[in-house]
Amino acid sequence: MDAAEWDRKYEGRELVYGEAPNATVVEVATTLKRGRALDLAAGQGRNAIWLATRGWTVDAVDFSSVALTKASRVAASAPRSVRERLTWVHADVTQLSTEPNYDLVLMLYLHLPPEERQAAVSRAVSALKPDGILMILGHHAANIESGVGGPQEAEILYTPEDLASDIGTRLTVLTAENRYRDVTGGTAIDALLLASRSPLGSEPDRG
Ligand SMILES: C[S@@+](CC[C@H](N)C(=O)[O-])C[C@H]1O[C@@H](n2cnc3c(N)ncnc32)[C@H](O)[C@@H]1O
Repeated sequence: MDAAEWDRKYEGRELVYGEAPNATVVEVATTLKRGRALDLAAGQGRNAIWLATRGWTVDAVDFSSVALTKASRVAASAPRSVRERLTWVHADVTQLSTEPNYDLVLMLYLHLPPEERQAAVSRAVSALKPDGILMILGHHAANIESGVGGPQEAEILYTPEDLASDIGTRLTVLTAENRYRDVTGGTAIDALLLASRSPLGSEPDRG
């Protein structure tokens, strides 16, 4: 779906993915020291806003201006200190250029054809500070046959192994596994990847 199609999906509706943060984001972020986060394909900001309320400074990127307008409206009722930690960025995540400034990079439920997904993953990897954590979560390829919900086009779904292969040797894989969510009508299957950039000075000696 292009940006105009996403705009149409978001138009005239309340929060398409709800206001509550994703449970796995909560699980992961609460184990980390707060810092700077980059939320790629942030949608209406449920995870970015939650992170900001926990003290993270967040840049939230999406190519749907309708989604970002709604996100900043939701955030408007948060305390000023929370709002000041949030920046909404209107951009295509496959072409985003960032400095390696982030302690945490999120990419949740972004489903693109493999080449575009790999471009987005490369941008995510480049945005990480030494020691930074990348978290990618999305609908698993097995969801079509055995799960519930999510896109029904196999080409844009993935497995944890696909994600690990996308990052190659650029990061250390911490977790690559299936996750299961109880939803209306059954169990949804997600693919989760957590990976970290090496700390400064610990790059292997390639001399
Ligand atoms: C299923 S929603 C997920 C939103 C959010 N991550 C969440 O979990 O609530 C997918 C989002 O990806 C955004 N998106 C898709 N392709 C994109 C691209 N190339 N660049 C930026 N955003 C994109 C859409 O606008 C949409 O908001």
